[in-house]
Amino acid sequence: MARRALITGITGQDGSYLAEHLLSEGYEVWGLVRGQANPRVPRVRRLLQDVRLVRGDLLDQGSLISAVEKVQPDEVYNLGAISFVPMSWEQAELTAEVTGMGVLRVLEAIRVCSGITASRGSSAGQIRFYQASSSEMFGQVRETPQTERTPFHPRSPYGVAKAYGHFLTQNYRESYGMFAVSGILFNHESPRRGAEFVTRKVSLGVARIKLGMAAELRLGNLEARRDWGFAGDFVRAMHMMLSAADPEDYVIGTGRTHSVRELVEAAFAAADLDWERHVVCDTSLHRPAEVDLLCADPKKARTQLGWEPTVSFEELVATMVETDLRLLADGGDPEQDSSWA
Ligand code: NAP
Ligand code: GDD
Repeated sequence: MARRALITGITGQDGSYLAEHLLSEGYEVWGLVRGQANPRVPRVRRLLQDVRLVRGDLLDQGSLISAVEKVQPDEVYNLGAISFVPMSWEQAELTAEVTGMGVLRVLEAIRVCSGITASRGSSAGQIRFYQASSSEMFGQVRETPQTERTPFHPRSPYGVAKAYGHFLTQNYRESYGMFAVSGILFNHESPRRGAEFVTRKVSLGVARIKLGMAAELRLGNLEARRDWGFAGDFVRAMHMMLSAADPEDYVIGTGRTHSVRELVEAAFAAADLDWERHVVCDTSLHRPAEVDLLCADPKKARTQLGWEPTVSFEELVATMVETDLRLLADGGDPEQDSSWA
């Protein structure tokens, strides 16, 4: 019998790559979708034809119990979240509910459907759970590079909500003996990245300028540094974590850090443009509290899981720019089509 996976956040960047990866591994894949007429569902149906869909919302406990009962998964990947950091200041309570409390609701759905009532039950035959934790939890970093042991100091309501989900996952593992793990993932990008995140905003901006559709690109803090990798590499790590013999948390990142300024330089250079003629610094895009520097130490994942990233920062940026140039030249809409081809 094929193993069965349920993915929350199937309409997002990671959901799409993870679904493709699990399908290629012979899984039966189910995706949780919310809303009466979610505009991203037709894209999922078109591009991930072998994925089955089940209704549910991270805000609705009953819907999650029904979804787990219906799918009877072997593995649950909780990728659903409000994931855009600036939005978490504007809608802090909603972020806490979806990104934080949503984790509790998924864990409870698994616990109830598995009939786990006593403390420290047996882990045999249990549904395995993956939580999408984030390097945003490190926030104002205490050390560089960051490891599984680096303390958290989140700088946004999003980071705080993720820290709650992270500790709760650990707690369900310790309290109920559940196979529940968190991947502390650093920034990962792709041509499928949402247009609001800086890498895609830049690759789309470069493409528009190159094609004469825009003259400038407005950006916020160019000095922040991130450890940027390719999303396709990172979803493999999620699967490896749930396939491991023991439930453990892992840091997943490339171990290389670049500033937003370096990202901009690389992206404009990939299209033979001079970034200084087009980029406008806009302080209204600065955040109330910034995460200045993220850089992973992925040693544990490398040695225990055998995980390695395969795409460099330079290749990633060049691919995103090339894909957006093609997309816009063909009259595509970055919000609708794309980049998923
Ligand atoms: P994304 O593209 O923003 O996708 C977020 C997903 O969450 C979407 O499918 C969205 O579905 C779903 N969602 C939002 N509210 C929901 C709700 N109330 N109920 C159910 N689903 C809901 O994010 P991503 O980049 O793929 O990231 C996947 C996960 O990894 C997120 O939890 C994110 O916080 C975390 N993470 C990402 C990175 C990164 O660099 N990408 C790094 C570390 C951690 P709709 O289409 O219905 O809105
Ligand atoms: N979005 C955006 N837009 N960011 C900008 C801009 C801009 O115009 N200008 C500068 N930046 C800077 C931000 O201030 C931040 O320091 C950096 O670019 C990266 O911003 P994002 O791409 O929005 O990502 P993020 O690091 O805040 O969050 C992403 O990575 C986290 C993991 O570290 C998201 O995917 C989160 O969901 C994820 O947890």
